[in-house]
Amino acid sequence: MDTLNVQNLEVRYGDLVGVADVSLKVEMGKVVALLGSNGAGKTTTLNAIAGLVPASGGSIEWRGESITRQPAYAIVRKGLALSPEGWRLFVSQTVEQNLRLGATALADKSRMSHLFERVYECFPRLAERRHQRSGTLSGGERQMLAMGRALMSEPKLLLLDEPSLGLAPAVVETMYETLHGLHKQGLTLLLAEQSIQLALDIADYAYVLQTGRTVLEGTAADLENNEQVQRIYLGVGAAEEAVTTSPAA
Ligand SMILES: Nc1ncnc2c1ncn2[C@@H]1O[C@H](COP(=O)(O)OP(=O)(O)OP(=O)(O)O)[C@@H](O)[C@H]1O
Ligand SMILES: [Mg+2]
Repeated sequence: MDTLNVQNLEVRYGDLVGVADVSLKVEMGKVVALLGSNGAGKTTTLNAIAGLVPASGGSIEWRGESITRQPAYAIVRKGLALSPEGWRLFVSQTVEQNLRLGATALADKSRMSHLFERVYECFPRLAERRHQRSGTLSGGERQMLAMGRALMSEPKLLLLDEPSLGLAPAVVETMYETLHGLHKQGLTLLLAEQSIQLALDIADYAYVLQTGRTVLEGTAADLENNEQVQRIYLGVGAAEEAVTTSPAA
């Protein structure tokens, strides 16, 4: 069953088009990657799904229900959480306070201590620094905190916007091991990444965006061996390469 179904999404920023035509599906229990180079529309797509920017066209369905024009707080309550690009943390607040904010939408507050435990287990570094102001954390620690905060809402689907961005290779590796572990525990992931290799290693299925459109999709194994991906990715031979090779389409 499709958990998330985005059809012909369009998002405008005033006169500018953020995404023109993005369609994607995420099935329960899967890891789906959203690939594309700078400005392709990955962040805009994730933000639209999370209700942070309004869609000007198309539809977003979650478990058969339209969430297209619902506000962000309502969408979090339905089990979708975003770990945003650039983290958007409250820098003057502590690690623990930031995590608590992630649980704002949680209906059953008695689960809070359990969720804190789970996040600290995933990210022991955050446990050590729970009373530290988040503005003083390192880049990698902030990324962990952004993910931890998203997990505090007990999501069914975690939307991740470039979790590897700006991190040292060793930290990226740990981050991906953690993601892998979360997936094994049953979490569904939609992961925006610029690094094709990282994303395809963990993903079951992937979509490639180019200037605001989904231009290619396929299983991770298919795309890994697809030289078109490289070309699209690097923005070479744009229009004539932009064909969908999906077996389903
Ligand atoms: N707030 C905004 N106002 C105007 N244009 C925007 C805004 N945010 C994004 N855009 C534009 O929308 C397009 C898609 O941007 P987006 O941030 O979604 O790309 P991205 O794939 O996440 O890129 P990156 O890999 O660099 O993060 C770009 O052309 C960008 O300039
Ligand atoms: Mg982005």
